[in-house]
Amino acid sequence: MIRRRFIRISSLGAAGVFFGGSLPMLTGCMKNHDSMEDMMMGEPVPVTEGSFTDALSFPGIQSNNASLVAQPTSGGLYNGNKLAGYGYQSNGILGPTLKFNSGESLSVNVQNNLPEATNIHWHGLAAPADMDGHPTALIQSGASFNYFFPVNQRASLYWYHPHPDKKTGEHVFKGLAGLMVVNDPEEAALNLPSGSDEILLVIQDKRIMADSINYSPTDSEIMTGYMGEFVFVNGVYAPFHTVSTKQYRVRMLNGSNARVYNLALSNGAAFSIIGSDGGLLPSSETVNSVLLGPGERVDLIVDFRNNTVNDEVFLISKTFDGGDVQGTQEFKIMKFVVTLQESDSFVLPSTLSFITFLNESAATKTRSFDISNPHGMGHGGHITGSGHNIGGKTFDATRIDEYITAGDIEVWTFDNSMGGEPHPMHLHGQPFQILDRTNGSGTIQPHEKGLKDTVNVMPKEIVRVIVPFGSLLGTFVFHCHNLEHEDDGMMLQYQMS
Ligand code: C2O
Ligand code: CU
Ligand code: CU
Repeated sequence: MIRRRFIRISSLGAAGVFFGGSLPMLTGCMKNHDSMEDMMMGEPVPVTEGSFTDALSFPGIQSNNASLVAQPTSGGLYNGNKLAGYGYQSNGILGPTLKFNSGESLSVNVQNNLPEATNIHWHGLAAPADMDGHPTALIQSGASFNYFFPVNQRASLYWYHPHPDKKTGEHVFKGLAGLMVVNDPEEAALNLPSGSDEILLVIQDKRIMADSINYSPTDSEIMTGYMGEFVFVNGVYAPFHTVSTKQYRVRMLNGSNARVYNLALSNGAAFSIIGSDGGLLPSSETVNSVLLGPGERVDLIVDFRNNTVNDEVFLISKTFDGGDVQGTQEFKIMKFVVTLQESDSFVLPSTLSFITFLNESAATKTRSFDISNPHGMGHGGHITGSGHNIGGKTFDATRIDEYITAGDIEVWTFDNSMGGEPHPMHLHGQPFQILDRTNGSGTIQPHEKGLKDTVNVMPKEIVRVIVPFGSLLGTFVFHCHNLEHEDDGMMLQYQMS
């Protein structure tokens, strides 16, 4: 009793500092919370499992020459009903999947028919600074812009989404996102399952109010990131998909604003990880689960050969140690129904790709970033900033935070050792490799053994990455891909010259 009272008083004092001492505002935002403690630490948003009766659908496919129209739409499917949200097409949330070959140029005209400014960032692609969707490079309402740049990158699953300062979370949550599949000869030579045997999944939690996707984070939801009760796949809530007794290539994006998933199969079956953010791993990794933070992708071979017709296997998220509000519940995401007995001769090659791993001795500079954002009681920390920050600094488009010399190899440390929540850290302009992880799982995860553009730094973890900076000059951002954290200012700029 006494301790609880002490905690409340302390949190109140701490909150006063944290929010700049504005008490009227604090009382205002307390109305939806049981106590000041809850306001500071947030609460889990439990997932409501659906009935898995709507069929999974797939966005249309376009090439490297595409036209996107950002617009209010009606289309996400929720228990058979259409939902109002945003999309890059008139008939649904999300946007078409852009498929093209490495070496081709991406040329995408974006018309903004939203009531406010937006833009597009090509997540994972090394786009020139003026094509990268910098948070201040906006397409005004009613205007259009042609993104054009060469893509010389490894085959992988990349994605595109808006990136306007302070508005990224809202635009993505309401439905603006799409996949990009880049192919190359190295990957094509493996003859991986393709056509209907290749399944692309965008996993996103949504919150719904009156048949609309609702984005209205409270202060506490800005702290934790905005999570929804309903998990959608490709814009469909709780879908099912039919498969036969074969191996499938299942490629997934965690396109959620804040929710981390510990993906597994309901029958406990193992699956193979063959790739991640930046393409194929050197060799496959057999696992029973994979922890995927917002912005991360994973490329899997899922094997239904041991199943029989009528089997139902769910893609689930298992519990995990994710701080106060994440990983507290196991829930089903989608259902695979085995409907056909078929033979399958595909053999996964033992060598998938060739990656030159960088040794830290190749680095000429190291930088360390405190991403702990300690706040509230129970996180064991003290308060350093006025919102989510990196090293005590919040985003300021007029300030360059790090100066980098083109061609340098650097080691960056993301230090969440005092932190109580996951921070998926994302770097624009350049894929990186992961050197090591201290605390938490203490290891490089199987899906991290390749090229990455986003690394999920869990509570208490310190992750070091090695970045071979290329030749793209100009100003780029790096940030937490928890989109509420990003919009709250957990984003800095580097300038390469
Ligand atoms: Cu996926 Cu800076 O973003
Ligand atoms: Cu927080
Ligand atoms: Cu974060």
